[in-house]
Amino acid sequence: MKTSIFIISLIIFLSLPSPTISISHPCNKNDEKVLFQIKKSLGNPYHLASWQKTLDCCHWYCVKCNKTTGRIIQLNIFAGNISGQIPPEVGDLPYLQQIMFHKLTNLTGNIPSSITKLTHLTMLFLSNTNLSGPVPSFLSKLKSLNYLDLSFNSFTGSIPPELAELTEVTGIRLDRNKLTGAIPESFGTFTGNLQYLYLSHNQLTGDIPRSLGYLNFTSIDFSRNQLTGDLSMFFGTNKTIQIADVSRNNFQFNLSKVELPASLTSLDLNHNKIYGGLPATLTGLRLQYLNVSYNRLCGKIPQGGDLQKFDITEYFHNRCLCGSPLPECS
Ligand SMILES: *[C@@H]1O[C@H](CO)[C@@H](O)[C@H](O)[C@H]1NC(C)=O
Ligand SMILES: *[C@@H]1O[C@H](CO)[C@@H](O)[C@H](O)[C@H]1NC(C)=O
Ligand SMILES: *[C@@H]1O[C@H](CO)[C@@H](O)[C@H](O)[C@H]1NC(C)=O
Ligand SMILES: *[C@@H]1O[C@H](CO)[C@@H](O)[C@H](O)[C@H]1NC(C)=O
Ligand SMILES: *[C@@H]1O[C@H](CO)[C@@H](O)[C@H](O)[C@H]1NC(C)=O
Ligand SMILES: *[C@@H]1O[C@H](CO)[C@@H](O)[C@H](O)[C@H]1NC(C)=O
Ligand SMILES: *[C@@H]1O[C@H](CO)[C@@H](O)[C@H](O)[C@H]1NC(C)=O
Ligand SMILES: *[C@@H]1O[C@H](CO)[C@@H](O)[C@H](O)[C@H]1NC(C)=O
Repeated sequence: MKTSIFIISLIIFLSLPSPTISISHPCNKNDEKVLFQIKKSLGNPYHLASWQKTLDCCHWYCVKCNKTTGRIIQLNIFAGNISGQIPPEVGDLPYLQQIMFHKLTNLTGNIPSSITKLTHLTMLFLSNTNLSGPVPSFLSKLKSLNYLDLSFNSFTGSIPPELAELTEVTGIRLDRNKLTGAIPESFGTFTGNLQYLYLSHNQLTGDIPRSLGYLNFTSIDFSRNQLTGDLSMFFGTNKTIQIADVSRNNFQFNLSKVELPASLTSLDLNHNKIYGGLPATLTGLRLQYLNVSYNRLCGKIPQGGDLQKFDITEYFHNRCLCGSPLPECS
């Protein structure tokens, strides 16, 4: 009887959501030391006020531990009043799987090369900060990296071809920077499964390498660059692409010849120099969004499917596109 009461109270005790009393492994002392260095490098910001000796570092804000080992596996600094640069000491947290520095407009400088020591890193989010300099080619040394997000920063220079060596990567965001040059030819040789590629709002130029057609994208956003040439390699009946935004570039190809895959749900081609006509296959798609405005398209809009449900603004400002919802062809 006594034993069962003890067991019941033990179960109740263990299931209480208590942050200070738990059976997990205490925080690793080396990791604690490194976190104190990081706090100091960032000028002891108020945002990290919970980083105190009196509290086990697994319970500090902005970090996550592996409960079995007490090693820090995540560092997520988000929307705080933080000024300065990314402390190079982040490279001394050897079990880190995820780093996030997000919405910190006063975070400046380059990405420190010390992060290449982080062999377990799978997620790197350095977004909506004020980082600058080149996108470093040493990021290709992060062999476990699954997702790379450097969006909304001030990175300059060209996209390093070495990023194609990231064999585990499924998503790359470099959108909203000041990147120049072409999309590297090497990107067609990603041996991983790159599904998401966002490069919008940069100053990229040149043709898209045809080799990108070998990849199986789910979503691409190349909008608002100065890219040229053909895009048909992203399409074709075998493809799995769902969302493509390539608006506001200088793409120039015959859309009549493009086979749009059944997977496509959103296609934004507005403000390019695309010619030919709308392919009849469009009527068979379950499109949620289509915008082909401001191009050089001609001929009758295929009738059927969802095509007549779209707004006039999704078709207007073409060379001689006609038929519902635009005025009748003459
Ligand atoms: C925590 O570490 C143990 C032992 O190394 C490992 O088996 C487990 O997968 C880790 N858990 C996480 C969430 O990383
Ligand atoms: C950024 O730094 C400036 C100058 O020190 C300060 O006025 C501003 O409040 C800071 N903003 C944020 C969001 O940290
Ligand atoms: C950020 O911190 C600086 C210096 O500590 C202070 O002057 C500024 O008012 C703070 N800004 C915000 C938005 O809290
Ligand atoms: C970014 O940093 C530059 C100086 O390096 C500064 O002039 C600019 O105001 C910063 N932008 C934001 C959004 O904080
Ligand atoms: C793309 O998908 C096809 C069919 O599923 C597959 O054979 C091919 O290896 C994939 N390509 C890449 C680069 O993953
Ligand atoms: C599409 O799939 C068919 C049959 O699986 C294959 O023969 C053809 O080479 C594929 N085409 C492309 C462009 O991948
Ligand atoms: C576009 O391709 C179609 C089909 O091959 C062809 O009939 C048409 O003449 C081409 N249009 C232009 C402007 O080259
Ligand atoms: C299509 O794109 C044009 C050009 O950017 C824009 O004016 C129009 O509002 C868009 N239509 C819709 C429904 O998004």
